[in-house]
Amino acid sequence: MDLDTTLTFLAYLVAAALFIVGIRRLRNPETARSGNTIAAFGMVIALAATLFVIEFQSLLLIGIAVALGGFLGALSAERVQMTAMPQMVAAYNGVGGGAAALIALSEFYHFQAEGGSSLVADITVPLTVLIGSVSFMGSVVAFLKLQEVAFTGSVTFPLQQVVNALLFLGILTLGANAFTGGAIVPFLSPVASVVSVLALSGLLGVLLVIPIGGADMPIVISLLNAGTGLAAAASGFVLDNYILIIAGTIVGASGTILTRLMSGALGRPLGKIIFAGIAASGAQKKGGSGEEKPVNSVSAEAVGEYLADEASTVVVVPGYGLAVAQAQQVMRDLTDTLESQGKRVLFGIHPVAGRMPGHMNVLLTEVGVAYDKLYDLEDINPEFPETDAVIVVGANDVVNPAANDPEQDTPISGMPVLDVESAKRVIFVKRSLSPGFAGVDNPLFYNTEKTMMLFADAKQGLQDILAAIRS
Ligand code: TAP
Repeated sequence: MDLDTTLTFLAYLVAAALFIVGIRRLRNPETARSGNTIAAFGMVIALAATLFVIEFQSLLLIGIAVALGGFLGALSAERVQMTAMPQMVAAYNGVGGGAAALIALSEFYHFQAEGGSSLVADITVPLTVLIGSVSFMGSVVAFLKLQEVAFTGSVTFPLQQVVNALLFLGILTLGANAFTGGAIVPFLSPVASVVSVLALSGLLGVLLVIPIGGADMPIVISLLNAGTGLAAAASGFVLDNYILIIAGTIVGASGTILTRLMSGALGRPLGKIIFAGIAASGAQKKGGSGEEKPVNSVSAEAVGEYLADEASTVVVVPGYGLAVAQAQQVMRDLTDTLESQGKRVLFGIHPVAGRMPGHMNVLLTEVGVAYDKLYDLEDINPEFPETDAVIVVGANDVVNPAANDPEQDTPISGMPVLDVESAKRVIFVKRSLSPGFAGVDNPLFYNTEKTMMLFADAKQGLQDILAAIRS
């Protein structure tokens, strides 16, 4: 082994250690930012080290690709709205999987033309192409769904699972054909077989994701993320590149853990999501049940009066609408004011509130809300019976008791929700009776004894409540 290669291996080792330290620091919001920087620094080391072992003439092409990718990445990260983050994760995910699949295909082509293949490479090429292509096309569909451009809701057709199973069998046969040098389907060359694996896997990615919708989308994104990691790791075997194997495995493993945590939080067995594509957001008409039912519509002054005079314990439940309205600062001001009046204020954070994992934690910590005030679902639910007022800001699904109703079969059925109903009063701050992401009407809106509905934009509504309390 020459000096350059030895140094590159050592640099990969350092990069891998930095990835692990970085990920560990992501566990806590206080250290997450530095964790991200450390992992990014590890990636810079890995990239720089790779440049030492590649041929000089490739440097120009790689330089152009890095500059272009870096520019587009920085530009999109700078511009993306927090609420559109899942789409962005899906897009980044997808290109990672697609790149791994294409690299494996190109390497296979070279192996066939020039030799130099190995048993490991022969097995991992079809595997990389399969996982990478499914992740790519699955992510494209997830992106289109989340952006509400196409495939919204659950798209199903008769015998969908049978078609998927046959497709998968076909892909396995073609992969085996490539591996055996064309022994199974003689009229298809190994390269043509891998190209067919690429195309059919892309189709499988589309068919696997179109029936999934509504509350299950975050889980799918995370699962595809894990798939991309595995594809990258498999391509590391093809290219004989250790850092790809390490980084890909870390992404695959962390994506799998996140997927399991989220499917637990949503009360959805993973197998049911992937193979059944449970009812999606389109399952129920958006805009409520359609029936005219009375609600207790109140003014900001009435809410301010109740909070000032009758509530000594308050729980705030933030949701997607808070993020859209960018109302986190005014919410912080409101809670500070309530605390200055001697009230106990906590935040109840549902694991899938908003549109990405940790969405609410990011928003709240951005404006300096202390971490010890942020309570998870399991910790806040026992507090509600002792709570005088729950202020639900721009949230619906995460507090919707319909999720626990055995009579209803909805996209959120079985999802553990914040049990705000057991508090003395529930105050919703939202613009209308529209349901949330999953499209399920909320019976709490119509509980006129308990619920106060303040119909307003989250920022404006909270500002008005604050003004009422201060006056
Ligand atoms: P949702 O159930 O989606 O409810 C959001 C509510 O915000 C809507 O009812 C809407 O009602 C209101 N809203 C919108 N803009 C507003 C504004 N400017 N001011 C005030 N209110 C506004 O939100 P949630 O309770 O946070 O639940 C999250 C949902 O998203 C879950 O179904 C979850 O599965 C899904 N999801 C989550 C993730 C992750 S990982 N967090 C990713 C993708 C999807 P009005 O129109 O009446 O104002």
